[in-house]
Amino acid sequence: MDETRLHTLIGQMLGDLGGAASIAMVRIGDALGLYRALHEHGSMTCEELAKIAAVNARYLREWLSHQSASNYLMYEPASGKFTLTAEQAMLFAIENSPVYMLGAFDLMASLLEAQPKVQRAFKTGGGVEWGDFGGCMFCAVARFFRPGYHNNLVPSWLPALEGVVDKLNQGAAVADVGCGHGWSAVLMAKAFPNSKFVGYDFHPSSIAQAREHAQAHGVSDNASFEVATAKDFNGGGFDLVTCFDCLHDMGDPAGAAAHIRRSLKPDGTWMVVEPLAGDRLEDNLNPVGRLYYAGSTMICVPTSLSQEVGAALGAQAGEVTLRNVITEGGFRTVRRATETPFNIILEARP
Ligand SMILES: C[S@@+](CC[C@H](N)C(=O)[O-])C[C@H]1O[C@@H](n2cnc3c(N)ncnc32)[C@H](O)[C@@H]1O
Repeated sequence: MDETRLHTLIGQMLGDLGGAASIAMVRIGDALGLYRALHEHGSMTCEELAKIAAVNARYLREWLSHQSASNYLMYEPASGKFTLTAEQAMLFAIENSPVYMLGAFDLMASLLEAQPKVQRAFKTGGGVEWGDFGGCMFCAVARFFRPGYHNNLVPSWLPALEGVVDKLNQGAAVADVGCGHGWSAVLMAKAFPNSKFVGYDFHPSSIAQAREHAQAHGVSDNASFEVATAKDFNGGGFDLVTCFDCLHDMGDPAGAAAHIRRSLKPDGTWMVVEPLAGDRLEDNLNPVGRLYYAGSTMICVPTSLSQEVGAALGAQAGEVTLRNVITEGGFRTVRRATETPFNIILEARP
C-alpha cells in the first residue's frame, strides 16, 4: 500500500463527492431563481437575497454557505455579502453562455433516476427505451446541449461545411434527424429564413416540445417536426441532413446512414455532430471521457440496445468507428469539418 497514492485518491474522492452532493444544491438554486437574483441584483446579504427570492432565510444561509465552500459564489466576511462573479454567472446564470452548466446538473440527476432500470439491464443485456427514462431526461439532454448549439452551430459548424451556407441563404431543404426538443432546427430556421427545416425524432413527446419551441421562437413557418425513426422518415430531396448527438444512440446507425443517403440530393451534405473522443479507451481516460462514459452507460447504450440491431456504439465511439458506420451507409467521402473540445463535426457526401 502506497500512502501517497492513497492520499491522492482520498483527495480526489473529496472533490468527487462534493460534486455529487452539489447536484441537488445547484438544482435548488436554479429552480428558486437564486443564481438569477444574484446575477441581476449584484452582491447581497443572506437576508436581502431571501427577500428578493422569497425564500426562508435559514435555509438560504445554509445553501449560500455550501455554494461559497464550493467556489460557486464568493463570500465577503467584512460585509456579509455573497457575490456571483462574472465567471460564475457564465456557468450558473447566463443561459446562452457557452459554458452554462445547469443542463449538465439536470442530466446528472437523470443518471441517478435511471439507475434501477439500467442496473436491471446489466443483468439481462436488454435495453431501456428512450421514452422509458423517467423524470424529464429529455429536457435535461436538450438543456445540456443547447448552449453548445447556440454558440457554435450557425457561427462555426455550418460554415465549416462546403457550400452549405450559400445554399441555406438561397433556400435549402433541410432535415434534422434525431432532433429531440428541436433546438438545433429552431436555431437554423431562425438564421436561414429562406430555407425549410423538418425535424424527425421517434419520441413523440420530444416532437411535441420541438413544435412548442418553434412556435415560441416564431419559426413555425419554416420549421416543422414529425414523429419518425431515422430509418423510416418520409421526406427526401434534402440539401442538408443533420444529426446532433444522436447517431450513436440509434440501434442501427448504419441503416440510418443508408436511409439518410437516399433522402439526400446527389450533391447534398450530411452533417454528423458527435461527442469528441479518441479511438481507443486509453485516449479517453480524462474528465470529458469520464462524464461521457457515465452518460453512455446510463442513457446511450441502453437506448441503442432497446432498438433493432442494437449496435450500441456508445458516446465515445471515436472517429474511426463513426466513419465506418457512415461509409457502411453508402457515403463516399467523410471529412472532419471542425471540432470543439466536446464535439466532432463530420461532413459526409453521397
Ligand atoms: C441525445 S438525444 C439528442 C437530441 C437532439 N439532437 C439534441 O441534440 O438535443 C438523442 C435523440 O435521438 C433520438 N433517437 C434515438 N434513436 C432514434 C432513432 N432510431 N430514430 C429517431 N430518433 C432516435 C432520441 O429520441 C433523442 O431525441
